[in-house]
Amino acid sequence: MKQAKKKIHIIVGARPNFIKLFNLIKCLDKIKNIRVFLIHTGQHYSLDLNKIFFNELKIRKPDFQIKSGSGNHAEQHAKVMINYQKIINNHKADLCLVIGDVNSTISCALIAKKNNIKVAHIESGLRSFDNSMPEEINRVLTDSISDYHFVTLKSAYKNLINEGVKKNKIFFVGNTMIDTLMYYKDHFVKSSSNLKKKYVLITLHRPSNVDNIKKLNLLLKKISMAFQDFEIIFPAHPRTFKQINKKRMDENITLIKPMSYLKFMKCMFYSSCVITDSGGISEESSFLNIPCITIRANTERPETINLGTNVLIDNNLGNLNILKKRLINKKWKKTKKFSKWDGQASKRIANIIENKILL
Ligand code: UD1
Repeated sequence: MKQAKKKIHIIVGARPNFIKLFNLIKCLDKIKNIRVFLIHTGQHYSLDLNKIFFNELKIRKPDFQIKSGSGNHAEQHAKVMINYQKIINNHKADLCLVIGDVNSTISCALIAKKNNIKVAHIESGLRSFDNSMPEEINRVLTDSISDYHFVTLKSAYKNLINEGVKKNKIFFVGNTMIDTLMYYKDHFVKSSSNLKKKYVLITLHRPSNVDNIKKLNLLLKKISMAFQDFEIIFPAHPRTFKQINKKRMDENITLIKPMSYLKFMKCMFYSSCVITDSGGISEESSFLNIPCITIRANTERPETINLGTNVLIDNNLGNLNILKKRLINKKWKKTKKFSKWDGQASKRIANIIENKILL
């Protein structure tokens, strides 16, 4: 008798999820005995945080679109949970695959678990040990109810072991975001460049850096002064964009709307340095051996510091001038090899799901 196909829900909601999804969904869609349902929670909905990635990376259309939109955390979690439950009522799955640490990740993991659907977490085990970050709460809670853990870094593996997760539930697979980067690298490296040689790329979107307008403006002022002989390209997330006084922007800062993936990666590749508060960008710049300064007191990705180009600097930015000297004198540390960041993470995940989890 022919066996019924097993079903997977893949949950995505926000910009970094879409980039990590690109190769993964292609690999999962190839498995014959599995039907993959892509569920978009609508956490990010603006063209330049959402559709532009699906169009540019040619990711297939979601099977289900929830319209959760913005709002406070309670509203966002509630809308995703209520609507994901409605989907489950008619289309129950055997496995729910959640990615990263955004609000949609924990919302759907929780509802899947309460409906007796197994949960697998991609990018599991990352810990900043800083519960003032919403993402840290999302990570810890998601991991506490996940049945399977796919990890990107050795430190994440250790964190899970320390928390009592069984070894046979943890799979060190590499990084699906690096799969995407490697797939498109030639494209953004070779595409003709109109970018000036000496510029710094900044991105800031963490509530702790941008929600206080005074603090944000002071941060930008200090960066602008330290790098006054550089052009500073600043594609700002909407959360940040609405906070900024565009008329009083320092002359060397070019404020622009968020970029598409390929434009952004090209801009990163040809930059002298990246200044950011994003964990994902500290990984991408480390992988590309581009100097990276992260404006945060901690990171859940310590390998970006030990193996990569990342340097942490808290938001009083006292060391910025020293770091700039290091950059100009070409004394920045070089990237070492990140284990299993080889473009094969999505294939490994698909293989484990097919042959171990949904067997
Ligand atoms: C979310 C994630 C964060 C991730 C980031 C990537 C959480 C808790 N945070 O942060 O981990 O690094 O995405 O970008 O899940 N907005 C728009 N258009 C959109 C979406 C948001 O204009 O499509 C604006 C709204 O004003 C909204 C604000 O951005 O209130 C914040 O959006 P939200 O999704 O709550 O969090 P992010 O800051 O994007």
